[in-house]
Amino acid sequence: MATSKPNIRGTWNSKIGFILAAAGSAVGLGNIWRYPTVMAENGGAAFLFIYAMLVFIVGYPVMVAELSVGRRTQKNPVGAFKALSKNKIFTIAGFWCVLCGIAILSFYVIIAGWTISYFFEQIFFHAGLHDWAAWVSDTENGWLNAAVAIMFMAVTITIVLGGVSQGIERAVRLLMPLLVVIIGILIVYVMFQPGASEGLTEYLVPDFSAINTDLILAAMGQAFFSLSLGMGALITYGSYLSKKENIPEAAAMVTVFDVGIAFMAGLLIMPTIYMAQAQGVVIFDADGNLVAGTALIFQVLPELFHEMGGLIGLIFGASFFFLLSIAALTSAISLLEVPTSYVIDEHGIRRKKSAILIGGIITIIALFVAFDTSLIGTIDFIFSVIGLPLGGLFVSIFLAYFWKTENARLELEKGFDDINSTIFWPVYKVFIKYICPVLIAAILISTIVEAIR
Ligand code: PFF
Repeated sequence: MATSKPNIRGTWNSKIGFILAAAGSAVGLGNIWRYPTVMAENGGAAFLFIYAMLVFIVGYPVMVAELSVGRRTQKNPVGAFKALSKNKIFTIAGFWCVLCGIAILSFYVIIAGWTISYFFEQIFFHAGLHDWAAWVSDTENGWLNAAVAIMFMAVTITIVLGGVSQGIERAVRLLMPLLVVIIGILIVYVMFQPGASEGLTEYLVPDFSAINTDLILAAMGQAFFSLSLGMGALITYGSYLSKKENIPEAAAMVTVFDVGIAFMAGLLIMPTIYMAQAQGVVIFDADGNLVAGTALIFQVLPELFHEMGGLIGLIFGASFFFLLSIAALTSAISLLEVPTSYVIDEHGIRRKKSAILIGGIITIIALFVAFDTSLIGTIDFIFSVIGLPLGGLFVSIFLAYFWKTENARLELEKGFDDINSTIFWPVYKVFIKYICPVLIAAILISTIVEAIR
């Protein structure tokens, strides 16, 4: 067990429990809904290339930074920055993290709701109830969006109420591996369908001329979103982590797992998009933009399952959307945990009250999104694409120049005794001090300059 402090905040029960919870936070709609959509909109393979680079060059070092700040302070983002530096800028950065959590969850919950609606769509469709299937899968039905989102938030709040190990850890143990298996089988199926090879080429053969500032910004936003970075989710999860664990190793496992699932989702969805196109479904408009936008995977994937037909279609369709909703749930939990732990730590309010209070506020904001789903793109751009890298910039500058790398090393040494004699430490120092902040700032600044021109 974890810490020397009295265990009132909670700790993870086991190393694997922590890794699963962190992976559960990372793996979610970001991998299976957001990644394929953003990738398909940004030139396929070229996007994958830049995204993968940014994950390892920027994402991984920031993940190690967040976990070590969290474990050192055993606090939420606001409390963690305050505990290690008197500089007010970082208190503001902590609040920014909390705000990003609230904003992102307010649209995340709507899309999570769609995964539940489509679970029922599959059942109705395969049962021959086509009218019901069409009704439940209407993503523009505000009342339906609201009702399902409220249910989803209620489950999220209930788990966060239960605290870290009982609630979060238990929910992720079995279901994540099952999702991987299902996606694997679906990939094999899709590969044999007409049109699939065109999608595969688009996904794996890069056209480097497609790389521009928009693509790079989108890839950076996706890297942060997918790894749950830049809003203190991993500061918070790190705060429950035992001093015995090796942070760089745990972070490497979570990163590889997360990218692996996103890569697999691309292998499934790009060929599926082209397969749908081969059947006459219009996927891209004249300018090459995706017609379906945010709802893309909710249009092409159900089609795939309908195509499969019969019991097989039902089993794959229903279990895919069920497992996707579980993946969304374990991520939503971490999104809610950030503002909740802030209220618990900084305002001394009990976990139960805090979770209900913050969860209630988020549900109210989500209702606006339910009735106007075009808000998803706007909130996502401000708080994920810009907001998360900005948070990551703060974290890396904070670790390198305010908390100082030497203090970070002392924290990382716990669970990683020989850190000094490995190549990891000198390389990590260069990344967190220079490469991460410069690269993130350069991408954000060039976007702003481009927008002004
Ligand atoms: N990483 C999650 C996903 O890919 O769906 C979303 C997310 C969770 C983003 C937690 C940020 C966060 F702090």
